[in-house]
Amino acid sequence: MHRDLSLEIVRVTEAAAIASSSWTGKGNKHDADGAATSAMREYFSAVPFRGTVVIGEGEMDEAPMLYIGEEVGSGVGPEYDVAVDPLEGTDIVASGRNNALSVVAIAEKGSLLHAPDMYMAKLAVGPRLAGKLSLEDPLEVTIQKAASILHKEISELTVSILDRNRHAEHIMILRKLGVKIYLLSDGDVAGAIAVAFPETGIDLHVGSGGAPEGVLAAAALRCMGGELQGRLLPENEEEYQRCLAMGISDPSKVLRMQDLVGDSDIIFAATGVTSGDFLHGVKYGWGGRAQTHSVVMRAQTQTVRFIQCVHQLHEEQRGSA
Ligand code: FBP
Repeated sequence: MHRDLSLEIVRVTEAAAIASSSWTGKGNKHDADGAATSAMREYFSAVPFRGTVVIGEGEMDEAPMLYIGEEVGSGVGPEYDVAVDPLEGTDIVASGRNNALSVVAIAEKGSLLHAPDMYMAKLAVGPRLAGKLSLEDPLEVTIQKAASILHKEISELTVSILDRNRHAEHIMILRKLGVKIYLLSDGDVAGAIAVAFPETGIDLHVGSGGAPEGVLAAAALRCMGGELQGRLLPENEEEYQRCLAMGISDPSKVLRMQDLVGDSDIIFAATGVTSGDFLHGVKYGWGGRAQTHSVVMRAQTQTVRFIQCVHQLHEEQRGSA
């Protein structure tokens, strides 16, 4: 995978972030997502590769753009798997909150799990805990092990989790243990990746969120030496059959990094749409310009590069919402 591709991929997430940020706080998540998706698709067409979307906006019959199976890229060059979330955190943008991202991961063909759109139980950790914990352990055990490995008191640990009713038991256990809890309103890609950025102060991410988001977060964590373990949570017979149809013969199995993102090279890029734990959001105010903040990383070298960029906006990008 050529490293120059990293910059090309960042252009794609920057364009999607700018397009959706015009919808910040306007209460319209569909148009925010649509703007990100069409900008992302347009910018992909200039990237010199042949990509196939394996995680996208939905199945072909439900998503007009960036659907699973769609071919993206200029149509010449190497073939890669592509995972996208043009706007990760549609409600976040619609309600003007923190931590919305535009995200792309590309990887060698066949290496990304074609995760069906259902919930996945997740355990995400940074490099110091990678390979040392298990999603199969009870949460109490995981927390005790993490504290001991990190040489911290349990009360010094910070754990992030989506603020959802389905997590009431997890939250009760964490509170009983005395752990600091970072409740996410939405956006568990950012939530899971944050564990690998020491400045966030977050040690673990637990709980369930979207399975496609789990693969995207795992792609980023592979580039940073972290780890995500996941278990699909089919809620009915139809979802169970979808797992089987997608080649996951035992949906109750714990999926490790190898299952989620393989072991070959990956490029992961994310641009902040609204400000968050490790990226600033899109900022306007430079006379028709916008400033973006992105991170781009590569599994092979584990380089993590932050890019701040000032864009001169085209007429249609200014106040497009
Ligand atoms: P969208 O951007 O698709 O709205 O996803 C936001 C999100 O919070 C994800 O980060 C997370 O994986 C999923 O939704 C959680 O789903 P739910 O809101 O049903 O708990």
